[in-house]
Amino acid sequence: MEYQNNLAYAKKLDAEDPLRSYRDRFFIPKQKNKEDCIYLCGNSLGLQPKSTRKYIEQELNDWEKLGVEGHFDAKNPWMPYHEILTKKMAKIVGAKSNEVIVMNGLTVNLHLMMVSFYQPTPKRHKILIEGNAFPSDQYAVKSQIEFHGYSVNDSLIELIPRKGENTIRTEDILNIIENEGESIALIMIGGLNYYTGQAFDMKTITEAGHKKGCKVGFDLAHAAGNLPLQLHNWNVDFAVWCTYKYLNSGPGGVAGCFVHENHVKNENLPRFAGWWGHDKETRFLMDDQFIPILSVEGWQLSNAPILLMASLNASLDIFDEAGMELIRSKAKKLTGFLEFLLKKIQSAKIEIITPSNEVERGSQLSIRVIECNKSLFEKITKKGVIADWREPDVIRVAPVPLYNNYYDVYRFVEILKESLNN
Ligand SMILES: Cc1ncc(COP(=O)(O)O)c(C=O)c1O
Repeated sequence: MEYQNNLAYAKKLDAEDPLRSYRDRFFIPKQKNKEDCIYLCGNSLGLQPKSTRKYIEQELNDWEKLGVEGHFDAKNPWMPYHEILTKKMAKIVGAKSNEVIVMNGLTVNLHLMMVSFYQPTPKRHKILIEGNAFPSDQYAVKSQIEFHGYSVNDSLIELIPRKGENTIRTEDILNIIENEGESIALIMIGGLNYYTGQAFDMKTITEAGHKKGCKVGFDLAHAAGNLPLQLHNWNVDFAVWCTYKYLNSGPGGVAGCFVHENHVKNENLPRFAGWWGHDKETRFLMDDQFIPILSVEGWQLSNAPILLMASLNASLDIFDEAGMELIRSKAKKLTGFLEFLLKKIQSAKIEIITPSNEVERGSQLSIRVIECNKSLFEKITKKGVIADWREPDVIRVAPVPLYNNYYDVYRFVEILKESLNN
């Protein structure tokens, strides 16, 4: 796509944007001078939909009026409340309703999934992960390896970019799977790496892993609500994601979890059980024998955090209305515009490390800062940009389609340019 480097063009793109009305459905944080901040941090914490309060108030009101009876008599009865979210979430990740559940936090779900899908044996005990995976993922996989009595040195394979490159080539991932696949029990990769913004070819990796008998799971923290996903069709074994980033559920929001239909009825899979995963018909007979629900709901442990779910529901209704297709199509254009403008700066002090191929990235671009430290980030922050800094040298920016506009992107690049020069 041919872009132009001027303000009038940014405003023209905004005027033509089919999602332009959605910005007004979110609270945009303000600068001291009352102007909107340039919020490019939806990959860290998504903004609050204006409707969220109403969704939460509904549950507070029902609790006020009904007490415990709200489990059955609330407008949205709490007992099956999570089911309201399942269908909308399943659309976002390309799954069937029996494969998706909203529960817990991301890292908790990752551990629950590894209990079921990481079954090391002396011959097949390794986990394959990206070298610069998010720390929580690294802690989780390392602690699982050690929990099973293996050593991280022998059992963890970390994918790293080739010397002089910033991202990992798919061919290198496939080569490792080809050469070491028989000893790999689990491939667990971030679908989109939090640091570089690289999106991995999940379909191809899953196919290659399965050919070698490995289980394949993804951490979709930075992919859910950002990339087009087809977890069911790609035959992914499991996936986990948080909802407070692109899915705007609010700080510490409740997380998502996917288990492929092929596994949900497999009663031989080991799992950590809790009463909310027990057969719904007999849950309240309070029997001591666990009978799992024969869907991903069988992995639930505790009764649902309704207020967090109400908050997520507000955002998922917006996603449902806008549709992932339009969201993704604007994302490509918005991030493409950002990349175009950044390249026009032509400064040796910054380098985009995110792939320029749009299928290998989502909304985020990671800008490596060269020979100038965090001070550049601090300067743009003072001028009204909310982005984030990731040690040692990266500014992450993610214009998100539901509430960012082309004008935000234009203003951001102008501020960055100015800050690089003085
Ligand atoms: C890629 C990735 N994995 C895991 C986590 C940890 O998530 P949680 O604290 O919700 O468990 C994060 C949080 O930002 C993340 O970005």
